[in-house]
Amino acid sequence: MTARQGIASANGALRPVASLQLRDGATVTLSRIVAPLAAGHALAVASAIVGMDPWRRYGFPPERLTSFLSPSDETTPRYLMCSGEDVAGLMAVKRNWMFGSYLNILAVLPAYQGRGIGSAALDWLEATARANGDRNQFVVTSAFNSGGLKLYTRHGFTPIAEMPGLIADGETEILLRKRLA
Ligand SMILES: CC(C)(COP(=O)(O)OP(=O)(O)OC[C@H]1O[C@@H](n2cnc3c(N)ncnc32)[C@H](O)[C@@H]1OP(=O)(O)O)[C@@H](O)C(=O)NCCC(=O)NCCS
Repeated sequence: MTARQGIASANGALRPVASLQLRDGATVTLSRIVAPLAAGHALAVASAIVGMDPWRRYGFPPERLTSFLSPSDETTPRYLMCSGEDVAGLMAVKRNWMFGSYLNILAVLPAYQGRGIGSAALDWLEATARANGDRNQFVVTSAFNSGGLKLYTRHGFTPIAEMPGLIADGETEILLRKRLA
């Protein structure tokens, strides 16, 4: 099974929460994972994600990401972005974190990058955070991840700390914050 096969076979595992409008007029469905995905599907999506930097550079096995593809409680929602039957990306959030929320994972699969999905997901996340009364949003990205840093700074996040060795010796992670209040 690949990430591009039959997410409809998730059989009620996904609860749509938003329709993300892309700049080319296409839409992508953002759905909360509310029940276990079909056998092998979580592993397939995780494998596609760890095939990309930054996870590839750190040598993460797919199993390290599968918990982010499992249903979870309200404080740690996991979302899939889907284009029709295909998985286009994953977003995992930790709520109630330092007077706001922490974006654990934002990943758009290569075939879907550059179409505005990451931006639309961040816009949706900010709108829900504001509706929730959050004061802050936080995210961590690798110093070498110029694409990630560009996306977050373009969306109003500011680097507030460098964390050398957080994930691996010789690498630095950057903590970014966006003030909502
Ligand atoms: C970083 C990441 C999440 C961005 O997702 P994305 O969906 O490709 O992001 P967007 O499409 O919203 O924006 C990316 C670029 O495409 C451009 N773009 C978006 N829609 C576009 C469109 N319709 N036509 C042309 N360009 C477009 C954006 O302007 C942006 O360009 P810029 O970076 O030069 O300003 C994605 O590349 C990814 O998952 N990378 C690997 C994992 C990662 O780094 N995650 C984040 C840090 S952990």
